[in-house]
Amino acid sequence: MYLLIPAAGSGKRMGSNRNKLLLEVRSQTIIAWTLKAAAAASTIQWIGIISQPTDWPDFKAILADLQLTKPVELIIGGSTRQESVYNGLQALPTAAEQVLIHDGARCLVTPNLLNSCAQAIRQCPGLIAAVPVKDTIKVVDENGIIQSTPDRQQLWAAQTPQGFNVKLLKQCHAEGVSQGWEVTDDAALFERCGIEVRIVEGEETNLKVTTPQDLAIAEFILTNRGS
Ligand code: C5P
Repeated sequence: MYLLIPAAGSGKRMGSNRNKLLLEVRSQTIIAWTLKAAAAASTIQWIGIISQPTDWPDFKAILADLQLTKPVELIIGGSTRQESVYNGLQALPTAAEQVLIHDGARCLVTPNLLNSCAQAIRQCPGLIAAVPVKDTIKVVDENGIIQSTPDRQQLWAAQTPQGFNVKLLKQCHAEGVSQGWEVTDDAALFERCGIEVRIVEGEETNLKVTTPQDLAIAEFILTNRGS
């Protein structure tokens, strides 16, 4: 399975002036933890890291240190995650029929979850890892007034990995560009194009490291795992 890792973000919400994926948890960078999970997932055969060239010296040093036995390519990132994935899709080897996309910031992903998504995407056009929502969610207008309370039974929190048929995902991204859609994950493009996306049960610990608190939680989880 081909794996694209969007890793071209900034550290804005982290309060950092550099790519948050280069911050360390338990003496390893966030991107290194993500790459270690990808390296340990037996189904993954190729990895594309989508990132800003200014970060490439750091990424190359991390790769040299990890000594991955799978082919890894660095792909130039865009100014949004959507653009970054678009670039990643153009850089995929032509043999790629399906692809997994996994955010570099979800460094606690397990090889097991990557493997189950890689197996499941062979049977459907699109899928995402997701977990049932625990909180009651409110839809709120711009004045801070609640508009509705969706039925929690139907709400899932989207994670990555997300898996797709490559041909369909390229078409959906092209449609997104021509329609000016702005989305925060790739499944949303499939949904807008009317293509089915299914849920694979994700992992509660598969959090996206976004804020300094998330770094502390990631540290706690990795310590408990004995990693
Ligand atoms: O900012 P956020 O954590 O939601 O971004 C999700 C993922 O998308 C991160 O791994 C980040 O590095 C990546 N990203 C990207 N290109 C951008 C913005 C974010 O690859 N322009």
